Amino acid sequence: MKDTPINFEVVKSKIESSGIPSIGKATIRELVKLVNEIEAVTGDRYIRMEMGVPGLPTPQIAIDAEIDAIKYKGATAKYPNLEGLPELKKEISRFVKLFLNIDVKPSGCVPTVGSLQGGLISFITIDRMYEDRDTMLYIDPSFPLQKQQLNVLGQKYVSFDVYNYRGKKLKDKLESYFKNGNVHSVLYSNPNNPSWICFTEEELQIIGELANKYNVIIIEDLAYFCMDFRQDMSKPGEPPYQPTVAKYTDNYILLISTSKAFSYAGQRVGMMVISDKLYNLKAPGLKRFFKTDTLGYSMIFGTYYMLTAGACHSAQYGIAAILKAVNEGKYNFRDDVIEYGKKAKIMKKMFVENGFKIVYDYDGDDPIADGFYFTISYPGFTGEELLEELIYYGISAISLSITGSERNEGLRACVSLVQRDLFPDLKYRLEKFREHHPVK
Ligand SMILES: Cc1ncc(COP(=O)(O)O)c(C=O)c1O
Repeated sequence: MKDTPINFEVVKSKIESSGIPSIGKATIRELVKLVNEIEAVTGDRYIRMEMGVPGLPTPQIAIDAEIDAIKYKGATAKYPNLEGLPELKKEISRFVKLFLNIDVKPSGCVPTVGSLQGGLISFITIDRMYEDRDTMLYIDPSFPLQKQQLNVLGQKYVSFDVYNYRGKKLKDKLESYFKNGNVHSVLYSNPNNPSWICFTEEELQIIGELANKYNVIIIEDLAYFCMDFRQDMSKPGEPPYQPTVAKYTDNYILLISTSKAFSYAGQRVGMMVISDKLYNLKAPGLKRFFKTDTLGYSMIFGTYYMLTAGACHSAQYGIAAILKAVNEGKYNFRDDVIEYGKKAKIMKKMFVENGFKIVYDYDGDDPIADGFYFTISYPGFTGEELLEELIYYGISAISLSITGSERNEGLRACVSLVQRDLFPDLKYRLEKFREHHPVK
């Protein structure tokens, strides 16, 4: 198979010299390096779908607010308030009321260094709440970095791929873990990275009700806030709202990233929203590590303090400005980020027309949304084989197997970095792939 869209010999020799034992098992960064090298030698542009990074400019309103804070408010010279800028805390509290329809006091609304840090703060603190509960449950597939956080901390976790446990089946599956009595919390992302499935109301209700029954904390990672574009959830104070487990339980911590919804990844500021109940909850085990047994206080004045003692000061002003505009209906962030969904729709169609299948394909009876990611497979290939083969066709993605997915035939494709002017190349390359690998 030598007439591949990207020079076969170059790709082959670059793969060999990369030292990566199996391309299919390569980490995202290893793939980035390999593809960069092939691009440099061949001059061909790849359809780069391996990295989940935002591809849109930051709203000007935030940039202006940051500059203003640096120039006139002394933001760079002073330590930020550990709990967060008061006006930002107020706007976060308003934001979750207007877009999730939940009531959380500003005290529990905390800016963090990316939402990733909000997760880390939660993992560390929750694990210390009860001596007899030491395990977190991941609903997979999931963002590998969050498992890495627990690996580094040396904390225990269990996980399962939700693919075969959608709808009512989720209840028994969750209970099979909760019944053991050792699970203190659950983590999932919704919309999900990597599969872009979104839990249905029925599923969120199951999760929430079981959280109440077994006294488990739900860490809901809303990294792609309001980015299920099947519905317009962008009107402040008006339904439909971003679906959330918070409708069904008060045992929640929400992680809201600004990286994708507000194209703010570079400033590393995210939001952690602790329910009023959890903020004030007392847990005896905390006293072993913190000054008090109160969860909210321990998270902020114990864990967060020792990690970074706050989040970038000027960026907090930037996010406060965006949220204020969003809350007042003056800036509609969906209008900007819906571009991801539009591109996904076109790209998914091209893949499907050329024999590929969407691996995670339904939420209940509805086909999954078009958004930041989608998952693909091709008959006769494992995900790892497919990943390597597609490199010869100028297409890069990551294997689902590194995300805890049991669908080892699948790849995750991220649309954000693929420019529309490459769509004709994508079409040509996929047609070539199909021609070379006819589906029987
Ligand atoms: C599910 C999920 N959680 C968290 C993050 C990290 O977000 P942040 O940039 O806010 O730290 C990402 C980023 O890709 C993600 O996909």
